[in-house]
Amino acid sequence: MEVVILDGAQTIGRLAADAITDLLQRQPESVLGLATGSSPLASYDELARRCGAGEVSFKRARGFTLDEYVGLAADHPQRYRNVIDTEFVSRVDFAPGAVRGPDGLAEDIPATCAAYEAEIAAAGGVDLQILGIGTDGHIGFNEPGSSLASRTRIKTLTTQTRLDNARFFDGNLEAVPTHCLTQGLATIMSARHVVLVAAGQGKAEAVHHLVEGAVSALWPATILQHHPHVSVLLDEAAASRLQLSSYYRDTYRAKPAWQGI
Ligand code: F6R
Repeated sequence: MEVVILDGAQTIGRLAADAITDLLQRQPESVLGLATGSSPLASYDELARRCGAGEVSFKRARGFTLDEYVGLAADHPQRYRNVIDTEFVSRVDFAPGAVRGPDGLAEDIPATCAAYEAEIAAAGGVDLQILGIGTDGHIGFNEPGSSLASRTRIKTLTTQTRLDNARFFDGNLEAVPTHCLTQGLATIMSARHVVLVAAGQGKAEAVHHLVEGAVSALWPATILQHHPHVSVLLDEAAASRLQLSSYYRDTYRAKPAWQGI
């Protein structure tokens, strides 16, 4: 796991965007794993800018989102399908239908989850997965207690996650759905490169467990310690509880710039 401590969200966004840009330049038909929420927004802004400037193209790429609320109406602005379209997909040049997500309105939830797994596998798996992390250590919506071997399925959101996300629902906790469909931890672990971005003091405890804690279903993101290629991009506040932060800084400083993450 490589830990990179940077001076703010814009710098984090640029480094994550560099990893995606490099990948698409090497392999234009790559499969991207897309997260919603605030964490990846700076990367999406930067990629939209680069796409507009002709520096990167998503024309031959495909995308799979991580998760979706159950039961939000198709036109609800906080439905993750709509959020990712607004924040990213509509701002770059993906081909129509190239970005897929789990269907939170499906009648047969086990069948839709199995079909989503099959779709990701048929696309050849995810080359680069962008992740945020919840204050309770979730990735995707794999809440504490999730099976470390889980695949796409329905989950109940914790009250903590619903409180955290109430800001997207005018601060109204009751409006935040109680359930979601999410790629499982094993699904996320199948991605070839995972780029996790986190900023702010609120993420410091979860980041401490992710990087330096014991692997445990109590902090689901810790499963990433078993992944061979994870880049964790942090601001100072999110990194503030790391014991080995000077080591991570020295290591990254000594790395040749051409190497990327
Ligand atoms: C979103 C997702 C979640 C978020 C996490 C952090 O698709 O899967 O795991 O990444 O809840 O959310 P933000 O970035 O809003 O702090």
